[in-house]
Amino acid sequence: MDELKRQAAARALEHVRDGMKLGLGTGSTAKHFVELLGERVRAGLDVIGVPTSEATRDDALRCGIRLTTLDDIDRLDLTVDGADEIDPALNLIKGGGGALLREKIVATASDRMIVIADDSKWVEALGRFPLPVEVVPFGLKATQRAIARAFAESGVSGQMVLRKGKDGHVFVTDGGHWIVDAHLGRIIDAPRLAGLLAAIPGVVEHGLFIGLAGMAVLAGADGIRVVE
Ligand code: 5RP
Repeated sequence: MDELKRQAAARALEHVRDGMKLGLGTGSTAKHFVELLGERVRAGLDVIGVPTSEATRDDALRCGIRLTTLDDIDRLDLTVDGADEIDPALNLIKGGGGALLREKIVATASDRMIVIADDSKWVEALGRFPLPVEVVPFGLKATQRAIARAFAESGVSGQMVLRKGKDGHVFVTDGGHWIVDAHLGRIIDAPRLAGLLAAIPGVVEHGLFIGLAGMAVLAGADGIRVVE
């Protein structure tokens, strides 16, 4: 599986050109991309990156990649990131690693997003992977009730679980928020649900990435499949 992730990352690297401003994703697949990009940088490639998490910032610096922020540059040329699920419309569920907020800000600031994954992430309909919803701790129960109403309005339902870290304590994102993972099974209308969730005051961001990815690079046992 890890080798497939690295193959997808290597294929995405072919789209990187000298002088590009890059969004750097988070997760085990994106980490391969950062490492391979670092090899190219050390061989002379001139790029600058915006990391989507503190973990990716550390990895990128370790690999010798120059970093900047979205305050210092206007747009990014390309973001390369992983995903938890990818559907045929290239809509995604992201946030399994808890970095969905910065990931979505960076992807939205990019002219292009390539999503890289092993082909187990390809699904006919989103929702088998629990949908991460990043919330502010204040008013959690009220926010969860509003989320449940949004689910009902878009024809889905399921258990919501407050994410815990490996230490058993509540998981806190890089932005200081909490994550509720919603076990929905199958999301019937992802764009509609995305809009409903975005309108809830206590929701900071949700893991539905609608219309952001322009290309998916999927690595499987039979080789690499590119969907655009
Ligand atoms: C982090 C993410 C990751 O891209 C997603 O969880 C996929 O991770 P991996 O490449 O480790 O399977 O959205 O917030």
